[in-house]
Amino acid sequence: MADEGNACGARCGRDGRELMTDITVDTLRDWLAGHKPVTVLDVRTQEDRDQWSIPGSIHVNAYESLRLGRSDVLASIEIPSQAPIVTVCGRGQVSQIAAHQLRARGLDAGSLIGGMQAWSLAWNVAEVPLAVSDARLLQIRRTGKGCLSYILGSAGSAAVVDACLEPSVYTRLAEAHGWRIRRVLDTHVHADHLSRSKALAEQCCAILFMPEQHRVHFDFSPLSDDAVVHVGSTALSVLRTPGHTEESTCYLLNDSCVMTGDTLFLGAVGRPDLHANEKEARERARWLFRSLRRLQSLPQHLLVLPAHASLPVAFDGVPLAESIEAVFEGLSSWFTSEDAFVERLLSRLPPTPPNYRQIVELNENGASPAVDVTELEAGANRCAVS
Ligand SMILES: [Fe+2]
Repeated sequence: MADEGNACGARCGRDGRELMTDITVDTLRDWLAGHKPVTVLDVRTQEDRDQWSIPGSIHVNAYESLRLGRSDVLASIEIPSQAPIVTVCGRGQVSQIAAHQLRARGLDAGSLIGGMQAWSLAWNVAEVPLAVSDARLLQIRRTGKGCLSYILGSAGSAAVVDACLEPSVYTRLAEAHGWRIRRVLDTHVHADHLSRSKALAEQCCAILFMPEQHRVHFDFSPLSDDAVVHVGSTALSVLRTPGHTEESTCYLLNDSCVMTGDTLFLGAVGRPDLHANEKEARERARWLFRSLRRLQSLPQHLLVLPAHASLPVAFDGVPLAESIEAVFEGLSSWFTSEDAFVERLLSRLPPTPPNYRQIVELNENGASPAVDVTELEAGANRCAVS
């Protein structure tokens, strides 16, 4: 289909219909969050797709053929509807060839600018049901990477836990709900993404809370076991749960839920070996066993809210949460004895996350990276052992 720019820069087909240009991550994110019909066509290799993908996308293993200039690669692809098509590859270059070929078929197609690397910063939201009426809790899911963060709002104030996206994401969400961010908390010093908590706290003039420790080289309000952080008319209680890291901490919201950081996931437990030698990892594995036993002793109906998901998070508004009872039922084979737990954990450690030393160093220094953040954070989260 021939197309050309009009006075305002949009491309129009011969019938005058406005055609899609290449689109940004923010635009695709808005479309998916708003349930606008769109076909996302992933043209990467199967191996790359297996690493991470965009929820609801369809896949055609066409990367090499497109790269080699074959013009008929997408000729037989069946597109499920008349919806616009967004082609996706790793960095947004080969996907431009794909979009061009589809446009040649008369289809309305554009490429995702920056590809999956840029998509790393895409996010969506789900509300977590609470047992109380004086607070609301949003789970902010960085679907492009699997990191989960939280905003707790109550009586006009808000607290953000484990900020993993640009501060503006949280400030806009808070503003939309009539909250002012007054507290920012991390569950631990993260190793697989850059913590945005310090920057967010500075931007909002909020108090930055972290577990009491001597790792970070900037000012924060230290939290010890059983401390309480007030947020509006509600409060978070502090549970120190060492294991994943020495300072790892969970935040309990009254009778509703517990934010478990990387200590406990919905079907996995935290890894104890990052930034640790073999002896330290073994010791941390023992701490983790005891910390998990402590979490297991909480009221069984409380929802577990982890800091990571192992799969891309759908734009479905359904929170990733399970009751303590359900989570520990799924993990029951882990808890025959402390020794068995330790051996099992240490024998199943996944590969270490790429760049984790550099990320830890930045998080300990509270510094902004001089390189592209998405480059630094590339790769799936690997803080869980299942
Ligand atoms: Fe972690």
